[in-house]
Amino acid sequence: MLSVASECVPLIKTGGLADVVGALPAALAGQGWDMRVLLPAYRSLRAGAAGWARLWAAEDLFGGPGQVLAGQVAGLSVLLLDAPHLFDRDGGPYAGPGGDWPDNPQRFAALGWAAADIARLGLGDGWQPDVLHAHDWQGGLAPAYLRYRGAGQVRSVLTVHNIAFQGWAPAGLLGALRLPPEQFHSGALEYYGGLSALKAGLVTADAITTVSPTYAAELMRPEFGMGLQGVIAARAGQMTGILNGVDTDVWSPETDTGIIPYSARTLKRKALNRAALEAAFGLTVPGPLAIIVSRLTDQKGIDLIPGAMPAFVEAGGGLVVLGTGDPALEAAMRGLAARFPGRVGVRIGYDEAMSHRLFAGGDAVLVPSRFEPCGLTQMYGLRYGTLPVVAATGGLADTVIGASPATLAAGVATGIVFAPADALGLALALRRLTGLYADRKTWARLQRNAMRQPVGWAASAAAYARLYEGLAG
Ligand code: ADP
Ligand code: GLC
Repeated sequence: MLSVASECVPLIKTGGLADVVGALPAALAGQGWDMRVLLPAYRSLRAGAAGWARLWAAEDLFGGPGQVLAGQVAGLSVLLLDAPHLFDRDGGPYAGPGGDWPDNPQRFAALGWAAADIARLGLGDGWQPDVLHAHDWQGGLAPAYLRYRGAGQVRSVLTVHNIAFQGWAPAGLLGALRLPPEQFHSGALEYYGGLSALKAGLVTADAITTVSPTYAAELMRPEFGMGLQGVIAARAGQMTGILNGVDTDVWSPETDTGIIPYSARTLKRKALNRAALEAAFGLTVPGPLAIIVSRLTDQKGIDLIPGAMPAFVEAGGGLVVLGTGDPALEAAMRGLAARFPGRVGVRIGYDEAMSHRLFAGGDAVLVPSRFEPCGLTQMYGLRYGTLPVVAATGGLADTVIGASPATLAAGVATGIVFAPADALGLALALRRLTGLYADRKTWARLQRNAMRQPVGWAASAAAYARLYEGLAG
């Protein structure tokens, strides 16, 4: 099994994609699948590959030589695509100081080309996968090259983690990207007059998955499909939604070394974490302490937060935000901290250790996303008894059982689910949060329900294994 992606924990991460790509090999190993992960050798990764075996090479990989180096990192079998003309540069995986890398189409075409080549012909050590699993638009051309160059017995899967990123390129690059001109029509590669690496994958992969059942259905509608709804609807028979899991070794309040450990039976100790978090941010909050750990972008509904804060703070609530992203939203978050000193604390930046302290110390985690393919932070919230307050979309809707008269009576609620994801929806959800928090017995029950939810990889790994087995025949 060959997995191809642009991010993978612990090597390179900008979002949940990396967590998932990094977790799948161990999860699937338990099901008997030997998975290697092919990634670009970004500058930050090259030094770590010194002495690795060279198992594949190309003299001209979209403008320069390329080779694949194989090694082990933290138990993962990693293949790095070393092509200095494409990946050895200062900056992020997708953008440099001047914005998106202008040669992104070639960079990720090279990744897809190498993946398809390895899948078709195997590596220098004789290893050959029977399934090629590509992730998001950066992996999107891998199934296309595999299909167009002759797949043999190898089958392909494309997983959509976020349809908002489609890997667009002008039609004039068709030849440079080594794509067959006869496939440039609306039923295959053509996309609004240009090319899209994601569409190329969607039309050529043997199977398509996305990261939650609800997002799988949403993607077929214009409100969520972002132009690709028709392409996906046409392949509904090959499409499934498989929820992400979280790493329950890393996200476990009983064993987390960065917090004061607690469990569902020792929830009083969670209060010590809250006190520590309030102290760290200089807060004194009489009611529920909400947290946000997120990319600060429109997708995540962060712009809805300022409008909802006055009433929440008035009702006794407080908020701690850890995030980075859109400068306007960063400024809006800083503005909240200035406006509500003692009630709102904000840390702009990316800080894994700090994120654990927020989940341990918060009472509720807010995820008011406009769309959310799966989402991981609501699941961390469940693990830590930090009740998720989420918009009813994508994986948020699939992982949180919203408190309602029926779910409370049945004793199964694990959080608050609201719709639509707008200012009023969030304001009402926060009002509900304040009310539920005041009912200490019900709140504790919700926390225990939340902490019991199975959010690890077991069920999803089994679902992927069934999919692979079905394909590999
Ligand atoms: P997305 O991939 O859309 O950003 P996910 O919820 O799937 O959303 O994954 C986000 C991941 O990044 C989670 O592991 C989350 O904890 C982490 N994360 C996001 N922002 C920060 C931050 N500022 N500091 C630490 N971790 C963060
Ligand atoms: C994307 C989505 C997020 C999902 C992650 C991993 O970044 O925005 O919802 O959890 O991919 O699949």
